[in-house]
Amino acid sequence: MDALARLVIIFSSVLFIVPISIAVDTITVNQPIRYGETIISAGGSFELGFYTPENSKNQYLGIWYKKVTPRTVVWVANGDFPLTDSLGVLKVTDQGTLVILNGTNSIIWSSNASRSAQNPTAQLLESGNLVLKNGNDDDPENFLWQSFDHPCSTLLPNMKLGRNKSTGQEWYLSSSKSTDDPSKGNLTYRLDPHGYPQLLKRNGLILTFCSGPWNGLRFSGFRALAGKSIYKHVFTFNEKEMYYTYELLDSSVVSRLVLNSNGDVQRLTWTDVTGWTEYSTMPMDDCDGYAFCGVHGFCNINQVPKCGCLDGFQPNFPNNWEMGVWSNGCFRSRPLDCQRGEWFKKYSGVKLPDTRNSTYIEA
Ligand SMILES: *[C@@H]1O[C@H](CO)[C@@H](O)[C@H](O)[C@H]1NC(C)=O
Ligand SMILES: *[C@@H]1O[C@H](CO)[C@@H](O)[C@H](O)[C@H]1NC(C)=O
Ligand SMILES: *[C@@H]1O[C@H](CO)[C@@H](O)[C@H](O)[C@H]1NC(C)=O
Ligand SMILES: *[C@@H]1O[C@H](CO)[C@@H](O)[C@H](O)[C@H]1NC(C)=O
Ligand SMILES: *[C@@H]1O[C@H](CO)[C@@H](O)[C@H](O)[C@H]1NC(C)=O
Repeated sequence: MDALARLVIIFSSVLFIVPISIAVDTITVNQPIRYGETIISAGGSFELGFYTPENSKNQYLGIWYKKVTPRTVVWVANGDFPLTDSLGVLKVTDQGTLVILNGTNSIIWSSNASRSAQNPTAQLLESGNLVLKNGNDDDPENFLWQSFDHPCSTLLPNMKLGRNKSTGQEWYLSSSKSTDDPSKGNLTYRLDPHGYPQLLKRNGLILTFCSGPWNGLRFSGFRALAGKSIYKHVFTFNEKEMYYTYELLDSSVVSRLVLNSNGDVQRLTWTDVTGWTEYSTMPMDDCDGYAFCGVHGFCNINQVPKCGCLDGFQPNFPNNWEMGVWSNGCFRSRPLDCQRGEWFKKYSGVKLPDTRNSTYIEA
């Protein structure tokens, strides 16, 4: 190979390498980002920047999938504090906080990290996690702040739903007002620490869905995963922490769990051929609604009517019950007769009842 050819090869590889290395995943104290500027995670999965939702004039700082159109936002910083013009700036401060400033330099959002920082930088990881760290300290234990600790309506793989009892930190999902408005809606989906933990979904204070307790493989009310599932459920429960998460079995799969503003908890997967497709949805049907048949009732979606009373119980309000108003439930119509061997009765294939008043033995 002659010198000229070698030079051409070196030169062209430089030309090809340079644009790739420009796609940075990190911002530093001296490099804020403004509208139109973004950072991209190292493998090209996620992008962070300011954006304007459809049918909105507001601007938000968000994280979305780099390769997915239409834009699918998985995290928003200032959902409740929108910018009204394109003059917003995201900055890392010397003190180790992330701040969004508006056009007149007022802080409209801050990450509020409290540990003292040295040469802080913010990096968008391939997982979709935006982390604030000291210089190049990649140890998660030392992160000053991370977006995975402040979920919005989306649970990405390896994000947690639950609590860290050592720190009092809670991770939970809350809905957006609508697809065009990322401010907080009324719905929450969180791990409840009373009795044996369960995932509860609420609309304001009203409980609308209960997952049932963890059974070792999944929460009792979740559908069984067939042999070739794309993910697995993970539940960690000890004195220090209790949380649910899920892991993808194939890291090339694009999948997310989202609490929609209509109340569905949906798991979706994406391919460039099909776009987003629904993998599963909860609640699955009426029987999934909390206490749909009332106290001492049970629900069978394959039966008409769906609601019945447990053995030995009768409807509290028979007229309403016949009309399909089941929420008042049933009462014990004949006393329990232990002499006749009426101890425990087995019901199979049902979601376990609410465990908030249960006690359990730690093995
Ligand atoms: C920035 O925020 C401050 C405080 O909320 C407000 O008074 C000011 O008008 C805002 N500036 C712009 C350009 O929106
Ligand atoms: C930061 O702290 C302020 C004041 O305590 C609070 O209003 C704001 O919600 C906090 N921001 C975040 C992102 O937690
Ligand atoms: C909980 O907090 C402790 C103390 O900061 C930390 O060491 C641990 O990693 C945290 N656990 C989780 C699951 O984040
Ligand atoms: C959310 O709650 C507020 C206050 O309770 C209520 O005014 C509003 O209609 C609710 N929004 C939805 C979508 O249910
Ligand atoms: C738990 O027990 C309290 C007190 O008996 C009762 O008021 C409440 O309804 C029970 N909650 C559940 C979910 O069973």
